[in-house]
Amino acid sequence: MMYRPICRHFAVFALLLASLCLACSLVAQPPAPKPAAPSPWMNASLSPDERADLVLKEMTLDEKVALLHGVGMPTDDPVTPENAPSNRGVGYAVGVPRLGIPGIDMSDAAYGVRSSGINGRYSTALPANVAAAASWDVDAAYEYGALIGRELRAQGFNMSLGGGVNITREPRNGRTFEYLGEDSVLAGTLVAKLIEGTQSAHVIGDLKHYALNDQESGRTAVDIAIGKRAARESDLLAFEIAVTKGHPAAVMCSYNRVNGDFACENDYLLNQVLKKSWKFPGFVISDWGATHSTEKASAAGLDNEQPGDFFFNAKFKAAVQAGRISTAELDEHVHRILRSMFAAGVIDHPRQRSVIDPFAGFETARKIEEGGIVLLKNEKAALPLNAAKLNRIVVIGSHSDVGMISGGGSAQVDPIGGNAIKPAGKGATHWQEEIWFPSSPLKAIQARAPKATVTYDPGTDPAAAATAAKNADIAIVFAYEWESEGMDLPNLSLPHHQDELIAAVAAANPRTIVVLETGTPVTMPWVNAPAAILEAWFAGSDGASAVGNVLFGTVNPSGKLPNTFPKSEADLPHPTVTQPPPESDHFDGPASPEQWAKGLPPFPVAYNEGVKVGYKWYDAEKKPVLFPFGFGLSYTTYAYSDLKVTPGATVKVTFTLANTGARAGAEIAEVYAALPAAAQEPPKRLVGFAKVKLDAKAKQTVTVEIDPKYLSIFDEAKNDWSLLPGDYTILVGGSSQDLPLKATINVK
Ligand code: BGC
Repeated sequence: MMYRPICRHFAVFALLLASLCLACSLVAQPPAPKPAAPSPWMNASLSPDERADLVLKEMTLDEKVALLHGVGMPTDDPVTPENAPSNRGVGYAVGVPRLGIPGIDMSDAAYGVRSSGINGRYSTALPANVAAAASWDVDAAYEYGALIGRELRAQGFNMSLGGGVNITREPRNGRTFEYLGEDSVLAGTLVAKLIEGTQSAHVIGDLKHYALNDQESGRTAVDIAIGKRAARESDLLAFEIAVTKGHPAAVMCSYNRVNGDFACENDYLLNQVLKKSWKFPGFVISDWGATHSTEKASAAGLDNEQPGDFFFNAKFKAAVQAGRISTAELDEHVHRILRSMFAAGVIDHPRQRSVIDPFAGFETARKIEEGGIVLLKNEKAALPLNAAKLNRIVVIGSHSDVGMISGGGSAQVDPIGGNAIKPAGKGATHWQEEIWFPSSPLKAIQARAPKATVTYDPGTDPAAAATAAKNADIAIVFAYEWESEGMDLPNLSLPHHQDELIAAVAAANPRTIVVLETGTPVTMPWVNAPAAILEAWFAGSDGASAVGNVLFGTVNPSGKLPNTFPKSEADLPHPTVTQPPPESDHFDGPASPEQWAKGLPPFPVAYNEGVKVGYKWYDAEKKPVLFPFGFGLSYTTYAYSDLKVTPGATVKVTFTLANTGARAGAEIAEVYAALPAAAQEPPKRLVGFAKVKLDAKAKQTVTVEIDPKYLSIFDEAKNDWSLLPGDYTILVGGSSQDLPLKATINVK
């Protein structure tokens, strides 16, 4: 009986205690903190420049200098707090965490996100950039860049190191597959779209390698000699178009020297041209190890050293403290980096890791490849193949039973499951190793000809392959040439006796089809022998489906060459690629910062051909070519008529384009201009183009507007573009050597 009151008393006591405690806690509790006012620079209604200045005001000297350099190569390092949020790329610049400014996490991303396999991730391999160039399709270029942007973000990166636009001045350059061909207007227009696409995903876009980095041999030592006019009208024009139309947040300066100075400490290239003349508001980042000085590089316009900090480090801080680098100069670098981060949206839209959509990636890669495959030859309508009429098909060469080749170096994308060729490795790929994507042409062909017997011959023994071809209705030979950063091609011939293989197979079976997997033009001593030739480039994650669709006519080929295929190497402006002397021949550059400050001994390469790059060279020198720039066949035919050229601030070129055949297709209409004789230019230059889809028998009026700069010359005395008075002939057609429409306008 006693316990209840006690209990009750206890309960009352407990209740009292609890309320007392609650009251105490209420009294003792500090007032809830007010939500912190957002930093003023987070006001998105301010311009990127205003926002950058607000951050800059709050930064210490150490924080400023920290933003000007990298912290090493995250790919090579163990996981650290810096690289943990991303998939470990190749460069990292610490942000200003105290002020909520994130680090810049960079990955190579030429034709897809590099180094994914290292962490067991997957990214889409698009067809090589040169294939996108062969599509001449601005929408495809945008989608190309947008996919890269999305996948970078999904892997935790907020900066792309794609955007290569060095024009193909030297077709043996080992990186031609990463670039967009030999013409500045085509390459610049497409890379601008690609960068726009990448930046649409709130990723900092990059344009590289600025400039005249047109050979890999001795790339860190070579000194390119070229006149200002020739440079501005050729290599630099591609960059100018990209900067002014694509608005990249960053530009990467290259390894080589130009007219005596390293590109990353070249006042003419960085300050005078890029920043002053083109009004580039973004930041200049060095290629990996391309910085050679502190004060000189800073004064010349370099804003960020990567991947480490040999020069833009304590030495930079000391130079500022000693007054050798002004605070204004330091602030200018920091401002450019910060404003670019705001402009690209990496601060307002923090990166967020997510899973990429591989199926959508395959679809995009396939479509871009389908638009970029070039049909070079098609005798007696050998293509498209009619599966119903084929009993025996032999597929020969290039590991076409299991895969398709890809481009190497820092552009390399890791295929799912590793290299398709033995010894297969899961995940990561290795530097300068031939990597074959597991996209099997043999399976793609069999799937499209289910009733036929489709066999495979490795092509290693031309005689055996010829016998196999003899016994088949048709033979499809796949031939390849692998390319990689860090090396040039010894010549333009197909390697591994493939010329011999093709000749033997085509001699055994006139219904031979050759499919090329190359990143650059090759010579074809056998060109007359096969019935059909397709250039499929490095075809990406789903290349085999694209090739299958073109071979069997599900897709009508519509690509055109972004590079001239010469008849022989003897016809190139330079008979050979100039090789570095032994003391300059170290791919990785010197071993220590001291040696690096000096750089490797320079060796000269003079671009005496000047503006005459690609077709401009062959036209001017009257050299016949194997397949001209802008050339590509279709399964239908097109006709051009009714040219009207309307002069004005922007010249308007209007014409009628008709599909005269029985299949729907897409025609790339090309517009060239021949300048007045006084301009002393090569016979013609590309000034515009349009890719037009047309149903069978349909026609359309097409208008192409010409940017006046494309009709101008670069006047060195004025240091500006100049439209000369005189007669300009406008030529329109489907290839640089097939221009049926012609009209002349006079410029006063
Ligand atoms: C290449 C660049 C690349 C960088 C980082 C350099 O060797 O030239 O294109 O972005 O490495 O991997």
